[in-house]
Amino acid sequence: MKNIAVFTSGGDSPGMNAAIRAVVRATLHLGLQPFGIYRGYSGMVEGAIEPLQSRSVSNILQLGGTILQSARSREFLTAEGRAKAYDNLQKHQIDGIVAIGGNGTYTGAKVFTAEYPDIKMVGLPGTIDNDLFGTDFTIGYDTAINTAMHAVDNIKDTANAHNRIFFVEVMGRDAGFIALRTAIASGAEAVLIPETQTNLDELVEKLQRNIDNKKRSSIVIVAEGDDAGGAMQVADYTKARLADADIRVTILGHVQRGGRPTCSDRVLASRLGLEAVKALVAGESGIAIGQLHRDIQKIPFDKAIKHNERINPVLLEMVEWLA
Ligand code: F6P
Repeated sequence: MKNIAVFTSGGDSPGMNAAIRAVVRATLHLGLQPFGIYRGYSGMVEGAIEPLQSRSVSNILQLGGTILQSARSREFLTAEGRAKAYDNLQKHQIDGIVAIGGNGTYTGAKVFTAEYPDIKMVGLPGTIDNDLFGTDFTIGYDTAINTAMHAVDNIKDTANAHNRIFFVEVMGRDAGFIALRTAIASGAEAVLIPETQTNLDELVEKLQRNIDNKKRSSIVIVAEGDDAGGAMQVADYTKARLADADIRVTILGHVQRGGRPTCSDRVLASRLGLEAVKALVAGESGIAIGQLHRDIQKIPFDKAIKHNERINPVLLEMVEWLA
């Protein structure tokens, strides 16, 4: 192993920079040459590959976003696109790659390593959604839930001041992990997530009970991908049935994707970045690296890809019981 490249792909997440830094510094520590691939798989196909030095990653540990930028590439989905990517990697004699991203990133890596096994590739879980199997937490999740929690804290102040019901939409197109933890941490009255079937009539009844019990305000956290729709639709349904209730909607959106990574995300990203380099140097490939119960966990890409990670029903029960 001589040259190790790193890239970020799919939706960015806070802590990706910390992971890039760790990969670069660990590679240099072992006397090898790090490279950066810009704009994810797109950059691989276009040949946007450059050597990196220690100073290239100075002062990025604390920054959200990704200095390598990110993208979702259509061309890489084709065999021709992947052949171009392989040629570009060969030009720089890249023999190891660290792919940082979510489901799409791992899916691309799985296909690529099967077609071009001479280039070793490992993945790190970089997504705010926390929907990858084989890791307790993904890089960026902790920051995103803290951002969402602080936002809901602010909303609660004004909700209480006006006796209002707020529907707060958080990210999670296919997964309810952000919604669930945010709901618990902010003491929400209810949470709607894609993994469970939402019954809007039950929700309306519950909100009516809260009003009858003189609760000053209610917060409902809605994952953007909930089966009943986003916060707007759920609010409209509720308004039509609770005519006297004062209802507002807040969509947190991409606010959750940016910002300075929390300590947990920085440490997780740094540890996984280091482990990724060690794994490549040991000749490992085709694996996603995560952290489970404090230990490093390595599983094939296939297993890490979405819908394998389950919602813990105990956490759902907590929202119910503690509301
Ligand atoms: O990063 C994952 C995610 O945050 C999803 O929860 C969300 O639906 C999606 O990204 C939106 O990403 P974009 O706006 O980049 O398409």
